[in-house]
Amino acid sequence: ASQLPEGYTIRPLQRADYAKGFLDVLRVLTTVGDVTEEAWNARYEWLSHHNDAYFLLTILDPSNKIVGTGALIVERKFIHNLGLVGHIEDIAVAKDQQGKKLGLRIIQALDFVAEKVGCYKSILDCSEANEGFYVKCGFKRAGLEMAHYY
Ligand code: ACO
Repeated sequence: ASQLPEGYTIRPLQRADYAKGFLDVLRVLTTVGDVTEEAWNARYEWLSHHNDAYFLLTILDPSNKIVGTGALIVERKFIHNLGLVGHIEDIAVAKDQQGKKLGLRIIQALDFVAEKVGCYKSILDCSEANEGFYVKCGFKRAGLEMAHYY
């Protein structure tokens, strides 16, 4: 049951994904801005040097266009015996591809990575409107988000 639709693939982010619609998928989530290819390459380079803490996944459709993405950031703590906590961030599925379980597959893949690297839990912030989606992915309401914008 944990399968992608025929012809779809899931894999880590690649440098060449700049040209495959990665940023456009993120635009269903929020403002992305005008990210030049040079700026993209610099950020990609940084992420690739931190690939034991930043796990970015993409789903591609049969034509190799990016239609979904999600990230896991692994936080190294002192508490809980130097425990690791997974932070799930920036989950997005292209508008015309929603409802095909792609979001679920992204979360399942990130959960798999989190467990494998030794996280004792994964957490995320979402809107009330998305609560049902994360409940279906196995999450439950815990705590309250607060933010301080600068
Ligand atoms: N409320 C309740 N249930 C939902 C919702 C929702 N908003 N969205 C999906 N579901 C259900 C589906 O019906 C399905 O249920 P089923 O198994 O009974 O059929 C199950 O959740 C899995 O749904 P998917 O098909 O995997 O969902 P989709 O691929 O459409 O992805 C997502 C969901 C990521 C929320 C997508 O709609 C999206 O990209 N939305 C815009 C961006 C966004 O809000 N991202 C999340 C931000 S929070 C964060 O990043 C931590």
